[in-house]
Amino acid sequence: MERTLVIIKPDAVQRGLIGEIIARFERRGLRIAALKLMQIDEPLARRHYAVHEGKPFYEPLIRYITSSPVVVMVLEGNDAIEIVRRTMGATNPAEAAPGTIRADFGLEIGRNLVHGSDGPETAAFEVPLFFTEDEILSYERDTDRWIFE
Ligand code: CMP
Repeated sequence: MERTLVIIKPDAVQRGLIGEIIARFERRGLRIAALKLMQIDEPLARRHYAVHEGKPFYEPLIRYITSSPVVVMVLEGNDAIEIVRRTMGATNPAEAAPGTIRADFGLEIGRNLVHGSDGPETAAFEVPLFFTEDEILSYERDTDRWIFE
């Protein structure tokens, strides 16, 4: 089963949207394998977003992601990476489809509420940045057979 990293970003935490955002993923059927509230410090932010180093939005992005606690999660399910991306909507909330998290709660790309790994290699890089192996739980829910075929 595929795993992906999700960050409920500072704007969503400050706006009281943690529960709303977790509920959307949970209701969809994705299984929460790990979850915590944490403050991202600058070195971790720079590692996580290293791929964007040098871009015009990089320094504001580092300030944004370190500006308040965030909630980080590992979600799992078949095709979890793509399912999470589609549930979040396009990176720019202005372009996100109605019904997605970013469209329903956001307006601007620099305040887009939530992050999800953008592919299997990214997920393999990002998950261990935030969680040790023993923080990621393997378990089954009684409802799994009604969600996973
Ligand atoms: P995220 O999915 O976390 O990946 C990179 C983040 O950079 C993105 O969401 C936005 O929060 C932020 N960002 C700000 N400006 C841009 C931009 N012009 N293009 C892409 N990402 C941007």
